[in-house]
This record gives sequence, C-alpha cells and structure tokens, in this order.
Amino acid sequence: MEFKQCLKERANFIENILKEYMPKEEGHQKTIIEAMNYSLSAGGKRLRPILTLEACKIVGGNEADAIPFAVAIEMIHTYSLIHDDLPAIDNDDLRRGRKTNHIVFGEDMAILAGDALLNYAFELMLSTSINKENPQKYLKAINEIAKASGIYGMIGGQVVDVQSENKEISKEKLDYIHNNKTAAIIIGCMRAGAIIGDATEIELESITKYAKNIGLSFQIVDDILDIIGDEAKLGKKVGSDIENHKSTYPSLLGLEKSKEIAYELIDEAKKSIKLINKDIRFLNGLAEYIIDREY
Ligand code: IPE
Ligand code: IPE
Ligand code: MG
Ligand code: MG
Ligand code: MG
Repeated sequence: MEFKQCLKERANFIENILKEYMPKEEGHQKTIIEAMNYSLSAGGKRLRPILTLEACKIVGGNEADAIPFAVAIEMIHTYSLIHDDLPAIDNDDLRRGRKTNHIVFGEDMAILAGDALLNYAFELMLSTSINKENPQKYLKAINEIAKASGIYGMIGGQVVDVQSENKEISKEKLDYIHNNKTAAIIIGCMRAGAIIGDATEIELESITKYAKNIGLSFQIVDDILDIIGDEAKLGKKVGSDIENHKSTYPSLLGLEKSKEIAYELIDEAKKSIKLINKDIRFLNGLAEYIIDREY
C-alpha cells in the first residue's frame, strides 16, 4: 500500500478510538467536556498516537495493549496546543482549521480544558494499568510519558521558548527548546509503545534515536512552514513566529540551512531505525513524510 494511504488509514483508526474514549458531555461537567472534545475532535495528523502503536507493533507487541496510551498521548498533545494558543503564550486564533479553544469557550474554560485533558490522560493510563496482572511495564510507559511532558520535557521547552521571545539565542539553546517542547513527546510516545510491546534494549535504543531525530526535524519543518506554509492546508495561521519574535531555526540560521539540517536529521533517523531487524517500511515512509509535508 502506498505510504500516504497507509498513514490516512491509521489516522482514521485513531479518530475512531478517540471517539470511544472521549468523556460524555453531560452533568455539571458538560461545558468543560465540550471544550475538551472540541479541540480533541478537530482532527490533526494524529502522528503521536500512530507512532505509539507502530513502536509497539514493530517490536512484536500487541497493538491493542497500547491503545489507551495512544489516546492519552493525543490528549496530552491537544492540551499542549490549547495552552500554546492562549493569549499569554502564542496568542493564536486558528488551530486544526477551527477557532482556537479560548476564542470559543473563553480563556477560563480553555485553561481548564487543557488541565482536564492532561489529567484525564493520566486517569486513563492508570485505570487501564492497575488491573493488569503484571503492571510493571505499563507503569514504566506512564513514567516515560510523564517525564516527556513535564519540566524535563515539553514544559521545560515551552518555558525557554517563551523566555526567548525578542532575543537572539545560541543554537545550543534553540536545540534545547526544540528537543524539549517537541521531540520529547515524540520520543516518549514511541518509547512507551515499545516498552508495552516488550522491546529489547537494542530495539528501544534504536527507536529512541529515530524519535529524537524525527522529533527535532519535525519542529524545524514546523518553523519553516510558519514562514512558507499555506494557512488553509496547515489549519493554523502562518507568520505567528515572526509576529511573536520567536527564536526559530529559520530566524537563527535562515530557511536554506534549516532545510538542510532537517534533511540530515531524517537521514540519521532512517539510519537509526535500520538497526532493528524488523519491517521498518512505515517508519521510513514517515520519516520522509515529515520533511516533505505541507501541513
Ligand atoms: C503542532 O503539532 C505542535 C508542534 C509540536 C509543532 P502537530 O503539527 O502534530 O499538530 P496536529 O496534531 O497535527 O494538529
Ligand atoms: C509548540 O510549538 C510546541 C508545543 C509544545 C505545543 P509551536 O508554538 O511552534 O506550535 P504551533 O506552530 O503553534 O503548532
Ligand atoms: Mg509555541
Ligand atoms: Mg504556537
Ligand atoms: Mg510553530
């Protein structure tokens, strides 16, 4: 099957399971759940949950075991987008082709919807894991996701991203931002899937390297698309980074050099994944897609 078709089918699969796991919009919680589901159901590429399931499958695990984790990761990612768009952070009004959460529900509900998605993700992972006969590997997977989204991961990166507005920063600092605000979750979601699939140490290491390389490349391409992308395709406003005087790859190194580095990272990712002796066609295709994507 052609890679793009395969990616589409996997995204559809994630859409369907997300629907099953979304909380019901009823009771005193109706408004907050509507706000959560508004952003969660708005589409998006669903790359992180796809990567969790693929990492589990590729090492010989049972994909079904990783499904609640894949859902939880998309919830955490969606929370990060709701908060990223807030007036106090990137102040954006378009996301996944819809008005941003705070424009529709107000800042108060958007903050709470983000908090709620984060918490619900952990409720979901823990409630699935406590009933397992041998919960050890599931706890390890939760730990990966907690670290990846916390101060030594995504939040750590977001903090320095915000602090680096209107400043010229070193490449080393920019890499800290990108590796943490974006690559950390991509690494965490793949490691979690691989751990649930009972990966060997060698498999886990090669999956981690792959994720680190595609993760940084993914954010570099995001920075590039913020300049040369098409708003209709991206479903978010272009020019946001320039407007916010963000430190990005193109702002520091220019478009051409940024593209060059993004390509090099994809080559590295493909080399890293070769080291596991499995069917790596999908992960190779995905690495190439990341660099060629228009949204
Ligand atoms: C956007 O992530 C935030 C970044 C880390 C660049 P995606 O580009 O994966 O957004 P969706 O999930 O497809 O909307
Ligand atoms: C955000 O990076 C990364 C997150 C952790 C949400 P950006 O601010 O560049 O993401 P977009 O461009 O708004 O999607
Ligand atoms: Mg941001
Ligand atoms: Mg943003
Ligand atoms: Mg961006």
